Amino acid sequence: MKTLLSFVLISLLISGYMSWQQDNHPEMLKKGAEISEKLVKAITTKLNMEIQKNGLPGAINYCSLEAIPITDSISKMEQVEISRVSHKYRNPLNAANAREIEMIDEYISRHGKGELLTAQVVSEDGRLIYYSPIVLGSPMCLSCHGETEKIAIGVRDVLNEKYPDDKAVNFKFNEIRGMFKIVF
Ligand code: HEC
Repeated sequence: MKTLLSFVLISLLISGYMSWQQDNHPEMLKKGAEISEKLVKAITTKLNMEIQKNGLPGAINYCSLEAIPITDSISKMEQVEISRVSHKYRNPLNAANAREIEMIDEYISRHGKGELLTAQVVSEDGRLIYYSPIVLGSPMCLSCHGETEKIAIGVRDVLNEKYPDDKAVNFKFNEIRGMFKIVF
């Protein structure tokens, strides 16, 4: 029984990985890292600035790639499509697909064991896609993604109205929030 179960599990794993291929593309890994680092910095700076200027409710629209102009210029310059995907998403447009959820689960499990998390390039339908994990690495993120009861009422009201099906709450500090996705 146990052998059968392992067999089924292994087959599932293999079939899950058959539909796409993980590749090692050093130049894409480098480019992807550069782009995602720039964007993380830009979003965090923008969020901090808006929080200081207008308070948390006033900053809600700025945790978005669209809200920072360099996303557009980088996309055009590098001819890439940039997005963020999550298993627990706020904007349904950022929902991870089945394969991406597998990748996020893997990151969560490795992160839990304290392993180093590395970016990956996979090829799908003839296109190369770079993924890197996003960790909730700043306490500031929790003001909008942390425990529901601890999110300020003014923020909660705006979130409820804008994102009625919000799944991006109850995260803890240092948890995996999702992945950067850069389609080359
Ligand atoms: C002021 C509130 C606020 C703060 C602070 C905030 N976020 Fe967000 N976050 C949002 C909103 C609103 C969205 C949905 C944006 C959209 O519609 O595209 C979002 C979306 C995201 C997404 C895209 C996936 C999804 O759920 O739609 C990620 C990843 C993310 N946030 C990570 C972070 C991280 C990491 C931090 C801390 C550096 C952070 N956020 C801080 C409000 C916030």
